[in-house]
Amino acid sequence: MSTFSERILAIADSNRQKLQDFYQYFHRHPELSMKEYQTSDHIAAILMELGIELVETGLDTGVAGILRGGQDGPCIALRADIDALPIQEQSSCPFPSENEGVMHACGHDTHITSLLGAALILSEMRDDIRGTVKFIFQPAEEKNLGATAMIRSGVLEDPRVEACFSLHGTAEIPTGSVAVIPGPIMAGLNTIDIEITGKGGHGGIPHRSTDPVVAAAAIIQSLQTIVSRNVAPTDSAVVSICSVHTSNGIISNVIPDNVHMKGTVRFYSEEDKAMINRRILEIVEGIASAYNCTASFEISDDLPVTTNAPFHGQRDLSAIAYRTVADIGAAAVSPAPSGGGDDFSYYSIGIEGKAGVPSFFYWLGVRNEDLDCIYSWHSPKFRTDPAALPIGAALLAMSAINAADDILSDP
Ligand code: NI
Repeated sequence: MSTFSERILAIADSNRQKLQDFYQYFHRHPELSMKEYQTSDHIAAILMELGIELVETGLDTGVAGILRGGQDGPCIALRADIDALPIQEQSSCPFPSENEGVMHACGHDTHITSLLGAALILSEMRDDIRGTVKFIFQPAEEKNLGATAMIRSGVLEDPRVEACFSLHGTAEIPTGSVAVIPGPIMAGLNTIDIEITGKGGHGGIPHRSTDPVVAAAAIIQSLQTIVSRNVAPTDSAVVSICSVHTSNGIISNVIPDNVHMKGTVRFYSEEDKAMINRRILEIVEGIASAYNCTASFEISDDLPVTTNAPFHGQRDLSAIAYRTVADIGAAAVSPAPSGGGDDFSYYSIGIEGKAGVPSFFYWLGVRNEDLDCIYSWHSPKFRTDPAALPIGAALLAMSAINAADDILSDP
């Protein structure tokens, strides 16, 4: 065990209560995407108390801080998302949300606490840190808006970030374990919006109509063959049509003019994304035309894949991630990637005019059956095991130390 890891674990351990207090505040005061005002103020106050310089982002919510170590070295960023969801809490947490209808049901309160814990740990070791650490508390992950806003604000520049780490709590794996998945970890996603137009008429006299309902039914069935027949058996993807509305509403005896459908597509590679988009187009146009209907549709690019594989020749951070998990005495596990998405993907890919940086996304185990911490993301019963908080803090702090070490030894 390195001196650094022993110190990090000791500081995390002696601040258990403080981390629990941080967590309790954020859990009780969840705020929706882009409205994280109190959350941001509270984070900023804690960072200032730790002697961490705040960085102006020009955004209404979200906070960025910078810690300049006592020695020369690279700049490493650690990122947390801070927004909550429009869900009424039903968890067994003894200090539930005080904001009616709003809840940290994705555990972003755990992420804030872990990152504040990392800031606390690293600020105590400031003189021995080689380089600079940036702390990025981004808003609006749930709306896929916060990462791009933060990157646009220049948070990856001046000094230029050379590696970026983040974590997401999950009750899929027990407290004390951390998922290290080299490669895709969270899906990329697109939204599809399809409108089939025929010619309505009497339900009992169908031959005088062109029925868009039958065409829509054929399209829904055929879209399922994209995953079963076009995606390679060793890959994975999802095409789900989640809502179907006819222009007549719910009525039993009138064929409508229009059927409107919306759905979501999930994928784990840019190649699959391009292929799936092309197949949706072919199936919708081909089937609509075969049924004498017309089709219009839109596919929106919602989120790229979050992948821990190096993007376009970037530094591979997987070995650092494995070393970090071992250094803090956690167990590295490798569950299957999730069909959910996260806008952390933009930190490695970058946005127009702002290049991405090598990035790594962990899952932090927060499962504890005794405390009913067993529910999935976005469940009204979602709950984090408090014992996971110091582990999350140590994981992020140790990642910054190990990444700086790796970059200095192999620039
Ligand atoms: Ni989340």
